[in-house]
Amino acid sequence: MLKDKKIILGVTGGIAAYKAVEIASRLKKAGAVVRVVMTEEAKKFVTELTFREITGQPVTSDMWAEIQHYSVAHISLAEWADLVLVAPATANILAKADVGIADDFLSTMLLATKAIVVYSPAMNTNMFNHPATQGHIASLKAKGARIIEPASGVLACGAVGAGRLPEPVDVVEAVEKIFAVKQSLAGKKVLVTAGGTIEPLDPIRFIANHSSGRQGYAIAAEAAARGAEVVLVSGQAAVEPPVGLAKFVKVDTTRQMREAVLADFDDADIIIKAAAVADYRPKTVAANKIKKTDDDFVIELERNPDILKELGGLKKSNQVLVGFAAETQNLLQYAQSKLEKKNLDFIVANDVSKPGAGFQGDTNIIKILSRDGSVEELPLMTKRELSAIIMDRAEAKLK
Ligand code: CTP
Repeated sequence: MLKDKKIILGVTGGIAAYKAVEIASRLKKAGAVVRVVMTEEAKKFVTELTFREITGQPVTSDMWAEIQHYSVAHISLAEWADLVLVAPATANILAKADVGIADDFLSTMLLATKAIVVYSPAMNTNMFNHPATQGHIASLKAKGARIIEPASGVLACGAVGAGRLPEPVDVVEAVEKIFAVKQSLAGKKVLVTAGGTIEPLDPIRFIANHSSGRQGYAIAAEAAARGAEVVLVSGQAAVEPPVGLAKFVKVDTTRQMREAVLADFDDADIIIKAAAVADYRPKTVAANKIKKTDDDFVIELERNPDILKELGGLKKSNQVLVGFAAETQNLLQYAQSKLEKKNLDFIVANDVSKPGAGFQGDTNIIKILSRDGSVEELPLMTKRELSAIIMDRAEAKLK
């Protein structure tokens, strides 16, 4: 599984750095090409020489050293890798990677790489459980990084709890599992829309909706993880775009979303429209701030284009078109009519008035209605879990 895989092992300065030596050795024995990048602190625990001898490859740590093997070292190494494994990952590197601080070779490379990044945190239990560290871990995960959960037990500092670097054999197995995920969408293009479009009223106000972008972003992340070329067109969203996208287009209005979607529609294999699109826009947009008066204020709205309906008309037989329906009543009836009117392969319907479903939050409850009349009812799940099911169904229609 790891044969000829290009892996960067980032080693940071924790007592568990000695275990990274065995991790490097096991990765190499499994057939991977391993290049080690160490922080200055890591060198206080283990030597560069050890890693160089074990991997048979040069070891990098100094940002400014003259390195002959790479053109701009941290960039070319970042592009070279299939996967970056940071083990052990200290609280410091997790925080830096999360906020994007690039002040040494490893952190700079983490910012530059588009490879899968895996962190294996190891530190004192209190440091691991601190809200700051937990926050950085959650945020890195949301951006697409993988985390290998630390083991529990007696730590080097004498404390007992979570924070131990798992055994090297387990760390290597976790990496193998990541490569084992099926690249079922390799060579396919997936176009996803997410978030909410907004319509300005004047330079200060706009009409918006509650969409957080979470479900659409999770679908884009899932498609990217399956090897697809993913284009994500997003309105307003409360989350960061996932890693691994081919293209990310941020838009404000419905008309801008339409332009962006049409630009990438033609050669897309699967199109998933999870965005909450504004159906109306103010008829006039004031050039200057609208000042209040003592009278009531009436906004006249005009219709926006229905992007999905237009796509339904353009759709070719080899394209899979998926829509969303967020409703507060008559869910199945409304969803069924949208499925037909917009010429979709299937529609993902959710009753946003149910607890655990809808725009905000990490979970959703959905029903999938297909053209053959079938209705699949799914229980409450995380948006990422549902994304896997939605992509499975889309893939099945593709074949
Ligand atoms: N959609 C779109 N363009 C619009 C409106 C919606 O592409 N102008 C897409 C959404 O991304 C979603 C689906 O269509 O996939 C939602 O269907 P729609 O009938 O527009 O839902 P609502 O806007 O909620 O409409 P209604 O008022 O009919 O419930």
